[in-house]
Amino acid sequence: MSESTSVSTTPTPRRAVVTGVAGFIGSHLAHTLLQAGTTVIGVDRRDPAADQTAAANLAASHGLPGYMHITADLLTCAIDPLLFDADVIFHLAGIPGVRASWGPHFGDYVASNILATQRVMDAATRMRVPRVVVASSSSVYGPTSGGPSVESDHPRPASPYAVTKLAEEQLCLAHAARADCPTDVVALRYFTVYGPRQRPDMFTHRALLAAITGQPLRLYGDGHQRRDFTYVDDAVAATIAAAFAPTDTGIVNVGGGSNASLLEVINIAKSLVGRDIQIHVEHARNGDVLTTRANSGRAHDVLGWRPTVDLHNGMRAQMQALTQPAYRAVA
Ligand code: NAD
Ligand code: UGA
Repeated sequence: MSESTSVSTTPTPRRAVVTGVAGFIGSHLAHTLLQAGTTVIGVDRRDPAADQTAAANLAASHGLPGYMHITADLLTCAIDPLLFDADVIFHLAGIPGVRASWGPHFGDYVASNILATQRVMDAATRMRVPRVVVASSSSVYGPTSGGPSVESDHPRPASPYAVTKLAEEQLCLAHAARADCPTDVVALRYFTVYGPRQRPDMFTHRALLAAITGQPLRLYGDGHQRRDFTYVDDAVAATIAAAFAPTDTGIVNVGGGSNASLLEVINIAKSLVGRDIQIHVEHARNGDVLTTRANSGRAHDVLGWRPTVDLHNGMRAQMQALTQPAYRAVA
């Protein structure tokens, strides 16, 4: 998986722009594209020369033929020159995270998820980029009855973050719907992505780290909340397939099919590492939904995509990456 994955035979773009390339999913996407021969213009406001996490995330891609890295903030930089001759923009830059969005940084969420996206879509239109694939979120569905969420469900975002992600995807789709817009949009609703280099605020990372280090794990609520955990290589495969989806595809769920509770994640982490986890139970956090579950019919129909990595194997790969010294230094 990940760096050791063999080069796929599925179609890949000739030239792609990846925003948020220094982040968790963006760095995996860029590396997979480069391995398949795509020229990648990677854009991120985190500078790998100054930011250890960005450097670690990009280590595998830097120096590969076809990779060009641009450190720039999409809120202010000139975007048009980055898009020259691009077949597709994979727009993953943004401020993620449900719980932190209630805090004082909401302005950052609005700025990066909405205002910067508006700039990206304006530039894509001017530069006549044929396709934008934008990272949306399962969080736009909000509370559900526990059954699978279908793309046509009425969204009920339950956190400030989710509101910005709904605005982001709808903004992109509104641009694409204009008669004079040459850019088609596919909005992917990713469901809780995990795997090597996962963001350190996320649960799977924290559970594995607690098992490895013996430090306590803070559990928000009773641990019965469930997520449709999606392995990062599967998320990347769906993202690349979205570059080739039919025009007017619109919104597609990307859910890993591993619907599991946090308690199950804790048990897998314990068994993989061979060590107990000390748990500190805290109150459930505002905006966290009880269950996410994707209906994946549309992803299969329009992307020809199905998830391939189950939670146990995916967490094993994440655990192995976490125990490598180069990565542990920034974890
Ligand atoms: P991440 O934080 O690891 O990566 C996001 C990157 O975007 C960061 O490197 C950040 O520096 C960059 N960025 C933010 N604002 C920017 C700006 N204004 N200009 C340039 N760069 C900017 O997050 P991730 O987990 O890799 O998520 C990637 C995308 O997928 C986000 O849009 C997120 O909302 C979405 N998403 C993630 C998940 C998940 O489970 N990780 C699930 C659903 C949706
Ligand atoms: C994840 C990403 O963080 C979001 O950016 C993304 O948009 C979202 O998936 C999505 O699917 O759209 P989340 O499902 O909250 O959000 O994933 P985690 O951050 O891994 O949290 C999962 C659960 O673990 C939550 O209930 C959270 O409260 C809990 N948690 C998290 C803890 O109990 N303790 C922690 O230390 C961290």
